[in-house]
Amino acid sequence: MKLKACIKSIGAYLPKNIVYNQDFETFLDTSDEWITRRTGIKQRFKADKDEQTSDLAYKAALVAIKRAKINIDDIDMIIVATLSPDYFAMPSTATLVAHKLGLKVSAFDISAACSGFIYMLELAKSLVESASKKNVLIIGAEKISSVLDYNDRSTCVLFGDGAAACVISAGYENEILDVQTATDGEYAKLLFTNRPKYSKDCTPISLKMQGNDVFKVAVNTLANEVKHILSKNNLSKDDITHFIPHQANLRIINYVKEKLELKDEQCCVCVDKYGNTSAASIPIAINELYESKKLKKGDLMLFDAFGGGFTWGSALAYFDGE
Ligand code: COA
Repeated sequence: MKLKACIKSIGAYLPKNIVYNQDFETFLDTSDEWITRRTGIKQRFKADKDEQTSDLAYKAALVAIKRAKINIDDIDMIIVATLSPDYFAMPSTATLVAHKLGLKVSAFDISAACSGFIYMLELAKSLVESASKKNVLIIGAEKISSVLDYNDRSTCVLFGDGAAACVISAGYENEILDVQTATDGEYAKLLFTNRPKYSKDCTPISLKMQGNDVFKVAVNTLANEVKHILSKNNLSKDDITHFIPHQANLRIINYVKEKLELKDEQCCVCVDKYGNTSAASIPIAINELYESKKLKKGDLMLFDAFGGGFTWGSALAYFDGE
């Protein structure tokens, strides 16, 4: 029988500090009403100064490994998707996570912005199915607060910190059915991180976005993307147990949900609680379903994501965790 790659577990870690919309009103020309109406976000988590992306990733990884009922030593590859690594360029955040776990296995980061989780799924699927690796730990992790300009009301209210991990292992049922990924670099300058020559508040890097333009491309791309992956796999909207979209903006989620004519109970929404956690957003949402006991073994999940690059992607996967 052909080896299949399966999502064996999910685990997340959120820093303890919560930043509410009202907190921005004290230093920015913004309001809880504006943020809620335009984005659906009510709060987000923020890491401490001395808490790095690899710390969040490590804590999420421990939960995922425990829930997969394997030993740490059974992990033979670690992939981290992040746009806010501990170090820019090197060493990779995955290397630091491997060290914290006491492992010397292959470990590397990927850069696909908010689509990072889908990209990791694609990689892990092919490595496990080809029997190159047995247990791949994939982690979406962001200390995105470290690349935000807190004077820019159009970006800083949108994002949150956090991490979530999955163990992808070989199995014979409940597989990752299909993954699609794509890019269009023509849009690079609509969403990117710059490195200003001089910055008054010493922020070394900050995220810049033309939100309105990103919004328009995102909704159309995502609606087509999910329709395509469903028809390619001869599935209908009714086959989906959980639609788990990237949690960037409630209006984007609702647009795709309406295009697919999905029911409320099929659609996982937690952007209100976490904001946009970029590469961590889909696995944090999976964890939210899991911890609220709504996600069961054999449930079919549909993921979609869109991010800087532009990058985007979608995936269909059964949940194989306990
Ligand atoms: N509080 C109050 N007003 C704000 C604000 C804030 N936090 N941020 C921007 N505004 C203002 C703008 O300055 C603008 O004012 P003006 O009309 O006087 O020029 C007005 O609100 C409208 O700005 P606009 O950017 O057109 O708003 P919008 O309806 O597009 O909403 C986003 C802005 C960012 C919420 C929305 O564009 C969005 O969600 N885009 C996609 C972002 C995304 O998902 N990115 C990640 C992809 S992974």
